[in-house]
Amino acid sequence: MSVDTPVTTPTLTSPSTSTSNSTSTSNTTPSTAFDEFDGAFNPAEPGDGQRWSTWPSITPSERGPQPYPSWLVTSAAAFDTELGIVKTGKEGDVFLIERGVPDDGSGSPGPSCLLAAKRYRGLETSDFHRSAQYQEGRRMRNTRDTRAIARGSSYGRSVASGRWAFAEFEALCRAHAAGVPVPYPVQVNSTEVLMEFIGDGRTAAPRLAQVRARRDELEPLFDQTFEIMRSFARAGVAHGDLSAYNLLVHDGRVVVIDLPQLVDVAANPGGLDFLHRDVTNVCTWFSRHGLDRDAESFFAELVAELW
Ligand SMILES: Nc1ncnc2c1ncn2[C@@H]1O[C@H](COP(=O)(O)OP(=O)(O)O)[C@@H](O)[C@H]1O
Ligand SMILES: [Mg+2]
Repeated sequence: MSVDTPVTTPTLTSPSTSTSNSTSTSNTTPSTAFDEFDGAFNPAEPGDGQRWSTWPSITPSERGPQPYPSWLVTSAAAFDTELGIVKTGKEGDVFLIERGVPDDGSGSPGPSCLLAAKRYRGLETSDFHRSAQYQEGRRMRNTRDTRAIARGSSYGRSVASGRWAFAEFEALCRAHAAGVPVPYPVQVNSTEVLMEFIGDGRTAAPRLAQVRARRDELEPLFDQTFEIMRSFARAGVAHGDLSAYNLLVHDGRVVVIDLPQLVDVAANPGGLDFLHRDVTNVCTWFSRHGLDRDAESFFAELVAELW
């Protein structure tokens, strides 16, 4: 299996303000912060391209499911360092973040982990024509917010992007609970979703669309993708935007991403159409790459899982 590099491997563009690792500190006068969680003193302040880890200020309901994975840094002494953009997209951009405890003067930095931060933009730059279809069957409780979104006011835009971020976070949690391979959802904070970074070191895993695989390598990739669809169907949902662009391949393992539009198949009047489109996209892609898969029979199999 190889990756089609010229078009594919997401490249990191470092923002001019960023520092390249979490151990560097700014030239502001060091102060000492006491970490109530791990009892550590932190001698540094965040520098350019850094912030304090947002983890301690996030309410527990906006954190990922417990138990928290052992690799996740939860120390209040940690900094978030923006390492670059993984990908700019229609609705938002994905950044690579390192969350780590900087060197406390002992000469070695503390634990760190890499996270993907998906930041949603406002209404005007995003593909919100499609949102009405997806929202059918979902209840909109706060009518003041709903009216603000409809008016397209700046308040409405921030509510809308926050809703997408929250919807994606909830969908990731739901998928995670259903055993679907998704990046672990770390937290949601306003318009930003933080999740596990899928990749090798700082290089993001390729999308399925970028992978050049032989026929015998395609088969397990299809089987895993179908298992993902089956798990969604058993939970009564469809991804809603499934394609070779929203499936990452990491060490031969398929991980599904980009879930904000997760569709409740029974509640959404177009639910079955979304499911059908997901299966068709996937089967067409595999068939075009030499592994014939008949969308209609797989669709029937998924419908049988729904009810
Ligand atoms: N958790 C992640 N780990 C690694 N790369 C990611 C992750 N999430 C997103 N990406 C990269 O960012 C791209 C855009 O993310 P995605 O969620 O599909 O947003 P959109 O398609 O709406 O812009 C993906 O195709 C993938 O290359
Ligand atoms: Mg996508």
